[in-house]
Amino acid sequence: MNITEFIHNLPKAEIHVHLEGATEPETVLELAQRHKMLDRLPSTQLEDIRQWFVFRDFPHFLEIYLTIQDLIRTPEDFALLTYKCAEKMAAQNIRYREVTFTPYTHTNYLDKGLGIKDILGGLEAGRVQAREEFGVEIRWVFDIPRNLGFDKAGNYKPECAERTLEYAIEGKEQGVVGFGLGGFEVGAPPEPFAHSFSEARAASLLSVPHAGETEGPASVRGAIEALDADRIGHGVRAIEDSELLLLLKERQIPLEINPTSNICLHVYRSLAEHPFPHLDRMGLFVTVNTDDPPLFNATLNGEYELLANVFGYQVHDLVRIARNAFVAAGVEDEVKQRLLSEFDKQSTELLEQLEKSDQ
Ligand code: ADE
Ligand code: ZN
Repeated sequence: MNITEFIHNLPKAEIHVHLEGATEPETVLELAQRHKMLDRLPSTQLEDIRQWFVFRDFPHFLEIYLTIQDLIRTPEDFALLTYKCAEKMAAQNIRYREVTFTPYTHTNYLDKGLGIKDILGGLEAGRVQAREEFGVEIRWVFDIPRNLGFDKAGNYKPECAERTLEYAIEGKEQGVVGFGLGGFEVGAPPEPFAHSFSEARAASLLSVPHAGETEGPASVRGAIEALDADRIGHGVRAIEDSELLLLLKERQIPLEINPTSNICLHVYRSLAEHPFPHLDRMGLFVTVNTDDPPLFNATLNGEYELLANVFGYQVHDLVRIARNAFVAAGVEDEVKQRLLSEFDKQSTELLEQLEKSDQ
C-alpha cells in the first residue's frame, strides 16, 4: 500500500466545505438545462464549463459562485446538490461532512420565490438519500453572508444575521448543527454579529465563523471574543500574532484549514509559505479541508497528500490530523462516538497493513 492508497482508505471527516462551492461543472450544466437558463453560462459545452471553472482570480471565483447560487431554483435542486456532495464523499471515503450553506442568499437576496421550508425539505431529501445509498453522514452549518450585514456606508444591518439564525434554529431537526459567518472579511468584522451568535449558542448551535483568511489576527480575536467561536474557519493568519497563537493553543480551538483554497485566493503565494505545519507544531488544533473543491481543483485526499508530500507528514501524523476533524465535528454525541470508534478501528488496521507491506 502506498501513501495515496493509505490516504484513500483512511476514513475521513471534513468540517469546512460549502454546498454551492462543491458543485461540479456537470451539475451546473444540468441545472441550467433543467431551468432553461443556459444563457447564464459561457457555453453549453461541458468542456468549456470545466475551463470556466479553472481558478483565475477572486472576482472570477465570485462570478461562478453567484451563477451557481442563481441556478439552484427548486427543492429538487437542493436535493440533487446534496446527493452529488454525498457521491463525492463516498468516492473519497469521507464518512462525515459538515457542509456550510447560505440560506439567506436563496430566500432573500436572489428572488426565487423559495421559502426556508422548501429549502430545508430539499436538503433533507438529499441527506436521507445520501445516508441510504452511500452510508455517509451530513450535517449543516448555516452561514451569514457577512457582506450583506452592512450598508454602503458600513453601518450594520441585522436583517440577514437574524433571518439566518431563524433558519438555522428551524433546521435543527434536519441536521443543522452550526452557525457560520462567510463571505469577504474586509470591511465586515465579526463584532456586530455578536448578538446573533450568542443566541445561536444559547440554542445549542456551534459558533463557527470564518476569520483570519483575508483579514489578519484582529478578525480571529474578534471571532473568539465577540462570537465565542467553537471553531475558526481558516484562522491561518493567526500566525501573525504570538499572543493569539497562545490563546488558540490554550483553548484548543479547532482551525478549519484549507491549504489549496488559501493558495488560489492568494492568502499565501505558495505552499512553502503556508503556516499549516507551524500551527500544528506549535500545538494548535488543526484540521484539513477543501472549502470549494471543484473551484480550486481540490479533493480532500489531495489535501492530505499535500501534507505528506509537501510538508513531509508521516502516516501517524495524517491519522492524528484526520481524527481531529471527527473530534471537532458538531454532530450529536452518539453518532460522533460511533464515527470515532470506526475511525480508530480502521486507522489502526490500516497502519498494521502498511507495516506488514513494508516488511
Ligand atoms: N464562501 C465560499 N468560499 C469562501 C471563502 N474561501 N471565504 C469566505 N467565504 C466563502
Ligand atoms: Zn469557507
